[in-house]
Amino acid sequence: MGKRIGILTSGGDCAGLNPVIRAVVLRAAEYGWEVMGIRQATQGLMADPPQAVLLDPKAVGSLLTAGGTVLGTTNKGNPFAFPMPDGTLRDRSEDISRGYHQLGLDAIIGIGGDGSLAILRKLAQQGGWNLVGIPKTIDNDVGVTERSIGFDTAVNIATEALDRLQFTAASHSRVIVLEVMGRDAGHIAISAGIAGGADIILIPEIPFSVEKVCDKLKERQAQGKNYSLIIVAEAARTETGTAITTTDSLGQCRLGGIGQYLTEEICQRHVAETRVTVLGHVQRGGIPSPLDRLIASAFGVAAVDLVAEARFDHMVTWQNRKVVSVPIADAIAHYQAVDPESTLVRTARGLGIYLGD
Ligand code: F6P
Repeated sequence: MGKRIGILTSGGDCAGLNPVIRAVVLRAAEYGWEVMGIRQATQGLMADPPQAVLLDPKAVGSLLTAGGTVLGTTNKGNPFAFPMPDGTLRDRSEDISRGYHQLGLDAIIGIGGDGSLAILRKLAQQGGWNLVGIPKTIDNDVGVTERSIGFDTAVNIATEALDRLQFTAASHSRVIVLEVMGRDAGHIAISAGIAGGADIILIPEIPFSVEKVCDKLKERQAQGKNYSLIIVAEAARTETGTAITTTDSLGQCRLGGIGQYLTEEICQRHVAETRVTVLGHVQRGGIPSPLDRLIASAFGVAAVDLVAEARFDHMVTWQNRKVVSVPIADAIAHYQAVDPESTLVRTARGLGIYLGD
């Protein structure tokens, strides 16, 4: 019998979301099923009537190369404590489940990071609906899967930034600090740092000493190297400090500022003229890389197949060159930071890249 599947993108956007939407719609069409695209993550289900659109398999072709998500998304507003216009917090979980049933869905494919997947799982359990998860995040910190959608594109962008910064750093004999995203994990920094030829890589998993970083910069100068590139993850911290955050006008806490802090510390010690570049949301935008398109396509097809097999409460993952499924509970129970003993950390050290410790 024909099924109707809902699809939503939740949490911060990234490159690869549109290719996964395309893959889900095309695979569902192979089964003769319909796909409803739910707008703005769970907020589309919460709305009355629910905000969703039937996705036409004949009209999704252009999504393969499109950045962002045509469905919209949000990384704000926990549905169990949802901020209302009058300033109060309300549990909107029942409204969301009402939306699911009103749309006549047989299942939802939820694309999100660990936070979104945990919320979706709780909603599905409470509301009696069927959920299949797909991991996405530039941070690549979802447990169990080696790859999440969006990470590769972000690494490409950060690597290209280092490639570009190298020339200006060399021309002016400067130190340039590149601050990248990644939340509490240093995956983008360690990967782009190696690929982009950084001299120093600073990640949250390995606290650093400003003094030792400056010593390393002076050592490079003494070796006749007239410039240095530092890549620093937004949550990196000194041995004695904590991650630098700012609070925005809505009272939300955001990571960022470690690049500026480090730049000032280096300048104050008169080590070298130093500049900072904060890459920010550039890492989330733009055309998805070929690898992200491949991962998105494989995940989209596999997720629809899980619905066909009625294997709900599972998430598709990339493991040992294969797409396999795991219980969502396992994925969200294992936060995936950079292992200080991992191949990439060893590779960086082996290349003489300084990691700040
Ligand atoms: O989780 C993805 C991410 O881009 C993090 O790397 C970053 O800390 C955060 O989202 C930024 O969130 P926002 O889009 O709310 O500024």
